[in-house]
Amino acid sequence: MSPVVEKLNPRKPSALSIKRDAQRGNNRGWTVAINEITLDEVRNDATSFGLATKVLYQMNAGKEASIYLAYWRDFPIILKAYRFWQSAQARKSKGFFAPGRMQAIAAKEYDLLLACFKAGMNVPTPIGRVGNYVSMRLIGDGIEAAPQLRNVELEEPDIILDEILDDYLIMYRDVNYVHGDLSAYNILWWEGRAWIIDMPQASQVGPWSDMSSVVNLLRRDIVNLLLYFKKYGIQRDPDEIVKVFLSEYVPNNQRNFDESTILGVYE
Ligand SMILES: Nc1ncnc2c1ncn2[C@@H]1O[C@H](COP(=O)(O)OP(=O)(O)OP(=O)(O)O)[C@@H](O)[C@H]1O
Ligand SMILES: [Mg+2]
Repeated sequence: MSPVVEKLNPRKPSALSIKRDAQRGNNRGWTVAINEITLDEVRNDATSFGLATKVLYQMNAGKEASIYLAYWRDFPIILKAYRFWQSAQARKSKGFFAPGRMQAIAAKEYDLLLACFKAGMNVPTPIGRVGNYVSMRLIGDGIEAAPQLRNVELEEPDIILDEILDDYLIMYRDVNYVHGDLSAYNILWWEGRAWIIDMPQASQVGPWSDMSSVVNLLRRDIVNLLLYFKKYGIQRDPDEIVKVFLSEYVPNNQRNFDESTILGVYE
């Protein structure tokens, strides 16, 4: 690297940071270099963490997590590993991730999945969380994983849309979260039922929330969901659905604030 380029390099360590890193045993603060993780490493982690007895293979690689088919004794399960390492998508943008951040995302997904499960939603049963790994029930059986909703032809789409909206209403009203990435990609279809998955980006709805951004996220989720149902000739007004959600839950102080000031946001 030329001296000029090196001078402009934002990652160029200062004399002080070189000294500090040496004191830390060259462990550079809160970030770690990204390396490809091997299946053997995942196997090793999952079995030593007690999350699985066997890890078969990688099923899927998303933006921040990889999904593995695993077994806990005789039961097929899913292991979702939030990565410290690169995917083809991540390679372009970032070279470093904070491991604490990935663990926090895994913890959030586990906690939220558990809350949704307890509230009565149709979601994969959460099983465990250690470090950056979350394990949950496999939707499907040991031979076949459930398809995403976008890849199936429904016989009774109207009823299924209502069921999904009912489930989402439980998440919004009782768990007080908006999903934030709901679509026919993040809903699985198995044994005549829809299963909502993939919730690490969800936003909490509480007294401190910015309700206009909550409403935007909610509306976007509903629009994305309705997009899939258009092919069955189902046309519903997303704003009417948002209104039903908001009539079921808006934090009290937000409602009072809205009534006295910005009229019309929740109407
Ligand atoms: N519990 C499960 N049972 C069966 N299949 C699953 C389960 N969880 C995830 N999958 C499969 O793995 C895919 C990716 O899972 P998920 O959406 O949770 O991960 P992600 O990394 O956030 O993905 P993306 O970034 O692509 O949205 C799902 O679309 C589904 O096909
Ligand atoms: Mg997903």
